[in-house]
Amino acid sequence: MTADEFVRQLGAENDALLARLAPDDTLKPEVEGALNVPNLLKVALKNEIEATEIAARWLVATPEVDVKLALARQVGDEARHYGLIASRLRELGFDPDAVNPLAQGYGPLFQFLDSLTTTVERVAAGQFTREAIAVVKNRQFIEFCERAGDRGTATLYRDVIEPDERHHHDLGRRLLLRLATTAESQDAARAAARRTLALAEELQARALATAGIHHAPGC
Ligand SMILES: [Fe+2]
Ligand SMILES: [Fe+2]
Repeated sequence: MTADEFVRQLGAENDALLARLAPDDTLKPEVEGALNVPNLLKVALKNEIEATEIAARWLVATPEVDVKLALARQVGDEARHYGLIASRLRELGFDPDAVNPLAQGYGPLFQFLDSLTTTVERVAAGQFTREAIAVVKNRQFIEFCERAGDRGTATLYRDVIEPDERHHHDLGRRLLLRLATTAESQDAARAAARRTLALAEELQARALATAGIHHAPGC
C-alpha cells in the first residue's frame, strides 16, 4: 500500500488500541491517599527525562538530516517540559531537586525504544505512537487535575505541554509518510508501534495494580 494509506491505517489501529488506555468506569480508581498531583508530576519527570534522552540518542544515531532536526526540536521540548514540571512541583511545595527520576534506572519502554535501529521504526514507535499515547494520557491527567481542584497544573498541561506532544506526534506522521514506502518498512514500523502500545498498556496495568495510578501524564 502507499505510505499515505499505511499511515492512515496505522493511526486507526493505534486509536483503537489507545481507547483501551482511556479511563474505564469499572477500573476508575479511588482517588485518595498517595494518588495526588505532586506524586503524578514526579512520574511525569521520569517520563520527560526518558523522552529527552531517547530523542537525544536518536539525534546522534540517525543519518537523515530532517529527522535529526525533528529530534533536536523534541530534545529541547521534552527538557523544557521537565523544567516546567519541576517549577510546578516547587510551587506546590515540593523540592524537585530532591527527586532523581532515574534512581531506579530506565523503564522498559525506554529500553525497547533504545533497542530500535532503523529510522522508520524509531519514528513509528517514538514519535507517531508514543506521542499519541502521551496526548491521551495528558488529557486524562488534565481531567484528574481539574477534579482535584488544581487549575494551575491543568492549565500548564492544556496550554503548553499537550500542544507540544501533539506536534511531536504530527512530526512522526510527516516523517512516516516519507519513510514507510515499502512493504518491508511498513511491517517494521507496524511491529514497533504495536510493541510500544503493548508496553504502555502493560505499564499502565502495573501502575494501576501497584499504586492505583491511572492518570500518570505522558510525554
Ligand atoms: Fe513529546
Ligand atoms: Fe514531553
